[in-house]
Amino acid sequence: MATIGQDISVVKKHLEEGKLVAVPTETVYGLAGNAFNESAVTSIFKVKNRPSFDPLIVHTNSIEKVEMFVEEIPELAHQLINRYWPGPLTILLRKKKLIPDLVTSGLDTVAVRIPSHPLTLELLSQLDFPLAAPSANPFGYVSPTQPKHVDDQLGDKLSYILDGGACEVGVESTIVSFVDEPPRVLRLGGLAIEQIESLIGSVKVNIHSSSKPSAPGMLKSHYAPGKSIELINDFDLNATHDFSAIGAIVFQDLLKELPTKNQIQLSATGDLNEAAKNLFLALRQMDENTKIHTILTEFVPEEGLGRAINDRIKRATAQTK
Ligand code: TXA
Ligand code: MG
Repeated sequence: MATIGQDISVVKKHLEEGKLVAVPTETVYGLAGNAFNESAVTSIFKVKNRPSFDPLIVHTNSIEKVEMFVEEIPELAHQLINRYWPGPLTILLRKKKLIPDLVTSGLDTVAVRIPSHPLTLELLSQLDFPLAAPSANPFGYVSPTQPKHVDDQLGDKLSYILDGGACEVGVESTIVSFVDEPPRVLRLGGLAIEQIESLIGSVKVNIHSSSKPSAPGMLKSHYAPGKSIELINDFDLNATHDFSAIGAIVFQDLLKELPTKNQIQLSATGDLNEAAKNLFLALRQMDENTKIHTILTEFVPEEGLGRAINDRIKRATAQTK
């Protein structure tokens, strides 16, 4: 178990010593280390059991610092980051040498973001290095949205968990690549495509969902709880004998066939932002409920954060296909 607290000076000290800590962001908790310290970066891959071909996001607190890490920031990227940083947006740009190849898995591009959680922003402003931070979960599992989630799975491998409460957004950042024209969305996330397009016009959405992705990390089966998880529509509830062993994560309306205590509503009012905030917690709760053997779930409307939710549901259900 790691220490869970809000002491930024302790976290800073650990990071300066090359140790790893968990930090809150508005999207999910990150497993953070000094991005300029190769042994810290190596530990991140090890602690997460993450393949070395899957590059890390670099976090910092100002556009001036970002300019030190990347080659030119194109005009459209400027427009986006001026509006949406700090926030759930990661941009991909060509990197300068200052960013170690280890962080980017040897690619000549780097993913950068300024997260909006006040504690982490304060921490970043006190550091003279950026933080490399993937989501603080074992590779392939659901991302953590509360300190306890991090502690349960990685607590014994971390020096400290900075407690920023429950994450407001609940799904990871949207990744937009400005490496080529036109800009491409590589991961659907906490910033809705509609918000991006209202500012910079239409963007290509280029989400990888194969088992051999060309964009690292976008594996088909990801965000997967340990149990069988299936779409409600693909599951024959009539053929079921033991309803007590089936749980459901529904968007708004409970299933008539199942006991209420076996169901989690993502948003009683049909609010997609609320549903995004609750999604990963719901997956964990179902996974931890020992009475439940099969988890059923459903797609939500394909708009706003609904697109990111549906993307995660597709990846979570891919494992049992
Ligand atoms: O919201 C988030 O983005 C969270 C918080 C902690 O900031 N971080 C996060 O990191 O989700 P991670 O490592 O779980 O996901 C980062 C994704 C991976 O799919 C990785 O392949 C992709 O970003 N990525 C990072 N650098 C890249 C690069 N140079 N080229 C292509 N994809 C990259
Ligand atoms: Mg992740």
